[in-house]
Amino acid sequence: MDQAIINDAIGFAREQFQDDFSGHDYYHTERVYRLALQIARAEDADPFVVSLAALLHDVDDRKLSPATHATKEKAVAFMRSHDLPEDVVRAVVEIIKRLSFAGDGADVPDTLEGKIVQDADRLDAIGAIGIARAFAYGGSHHRSMHDPDEAPRLNMIREEYAMSQSTSINHFYEKLLRLKDSMNTAEGKRMAQKRHGFMEQYLEEFFAEWDGQD
Ligand code: ADP
Ligand code: NI
Repeated sequence: MDQAIINDAIGFAREQFQDDFSGHDYYHTERVYRLALQIARAEDADPFVVSLAALLHDVDDRKLSPATHATKEKAVAFMRSHDLPEDVVRAVVEIIKRLSFAGDGADVPDTLEGKIVQDADRLDAIGAIGIARAFAYGGSHHRSMHDPDEAPRLNMIREEYAMSQSTSINHFYEKLLRLKDSMNTAEGKRMAQKRHGFMEQYLEEFFAEWDGQD
């Protein structure tokens, strides 16, 4: 594995996310990269493709860079500028395109490397970090953390999910609590189990305090 290219990709990702406070900052990418490498070791996958896809997975994100979202132009430009072989460029772009959760959890990547990066991205949305990100995202989008009169909307289709203005608490029911069952790899499932349990405990405590019953 060419560590110099990986180090450059780390620097590139760091530049891209400099001004983000929505839960999508550089450290999200760094955590996904670490998680993905850990799973790649356990699953005997190609660490170079996994690392590159993890580090570049959000540089063309719809919310961050709408103009390049469809083509993944920034990720491609980075890889081309490092003269990476076309098959690596294609494999990484394919992984990034398949990552996002569409609301139905049906988008499973074909390759092991893709499955791993998807698991890593999902792991970072759950557990203690996931909880923090959900409230950070809600705050940065001027949403309330909880509204007792607003029930979670399960079974949203892709368009509804993209347009949804859910509270952070409803986001747990609409997405975060469902991620555990959509994990692809054994190592990912194991880690998701623990993080999921922590979220359930957190929600129980949240509602007990909300109702003044703690
Ligand atoms: P990623 O592309 O990293 O998988 P998203 O762009 O979908 O994640 O969301 C970034 C973060 O914001 C995630 O942690 C996600 O759970 C959180 N988030 C997305 N939508 C909402 C919402 N409606 N309420 C609270 N948190 C949200
Ligand atoms: Ni991500």
